[in-house]
Amino acid sequence: MARSATASIDLTALRHNLQRVREFAPGRKIIAVVKADGYGHGIIEVARSLNTADLLGVACIEEAIQLRKAGIEIGILLLEGFFDSSELAQIERYDLETVIHHPLQLDQICEHSFKQPPSIWIKLDTGMHRLGFEPTQFKAVYQQLQQSGNTRAIRAMTHLACSDETDNPLTPKQHAAFQAATKAFDIDLSIAASAAIIAWPQTHENWVRPGLMLYGVSPFADQIGANHQLQAAMLFQSKIISIKTIQCGESVGYGASWVAQRESKIGVIAVGYGDGYPRHAPSGTPVLIKGNRVKLAGRVSMDMICVDLTDHPEIQFGDTATLWGAELPVEEIARRCNAIPYQLLCGLTQRVAISYKN
Ligand SMILES: Cc1ncc(COP(=O)(O)O)c(C=O)c1O
Repeated sequence: MARSATASIDLTALRHNLQRVREFAPGRKIIAVVKADGYGHGIIEVARSLNTADLLGVACIEEAIQLRKAGIEIGILLLEGFFDSSELAQIERYDLETVIHHPLQLDQICEHSFKQPPSIWIKLDTGMHRLGFEPTQFKAVYQQLQQSGNTRAIRAMTHLACSDETDNPLTPKQHAAFQAATKAFDIDLSIAASAAIIAWPQTHENWVRPGLMLYGVSPFADQIGANHQLQAAMLFQSKIISIKTIQCGESVGYGASWVAQRESKIGVIAVGYGDGYPRHAPSGTPVLIKGNRVKLAGRVSMDMICVDLTDHPEIQFGDTATLWGAELPVEEIARRCNAIPYQLLCGLTQRVAISYKN
């Protein structure tokens, strides 16, 4: 029998979630963010399913080239720009768009000799203080780009630091700074990722940039995708490979951290942190088996977890266990582990076999 940790990706759910983005942000263009292997769902299949978006957003040129080599033809945007001027020839060859956030990138774009220059997105730092030009630099950056003649279109974007907190004053502050910097220019603008698409409609501008919500997951700490009529795209499962009975006072797993308070039936599931199941999931984290939420017992190992099946005589060797999916939200598992759903989705490892259903 092959190793049984699998992820099944529901492509219909992905398309449904893209439609939800259109409902949240009517008339806006959409950059579907598929970086980090499509948030762990498989970048190529995800990109194929979301090919009615206006652009795909990736983190680096390697991801973009992977998509082009798989025959993906729609526009692709390098969200972090290029890391080295040697990438400019590839940006042209693979017909990519790029962000610039740094004076060095600006100079390299202006000095390069293009036959077909790319569209350039100027990234502004309006308060996150990660990547971006200062808003006061916008005019000069725009003018330098325009004078170089090395752009197909010039657009502007910024990224919000706290849009998942629906009353955080930093969001209107960032929004106002972005608008003030760009208002004299007749160009396309983009601010909103998933949280702002849902909670801050005033930031939708011309282009929205959904990532997490496309995969059916809520960007808000206290909600799940279903609260926004999103459908979870990933079903992460494995199987029970052993069941045994232990006596009251005996322990389970490394560190002997879980101790039976009564005679207990312990199931072993073939999944662990070597597959991307979070190492820090505490005892009590739910696992769904035959419609029952059973509880993790003891530490997560590399290849296995144990669950307490004492009250579930109907659960047997070989039964399927859902680690997360539509019926057991990844948001809930992430909260249990003091993690975020992004981290869990991106964390699946290569030995988890991914399959796709339409
Ligand atoms: C620049 C940028 N835009 C959009 C996104 C998508 O964000 P989310 O997954 O929260 O929708 C990301 C993700 O990190 C990003 O870095």
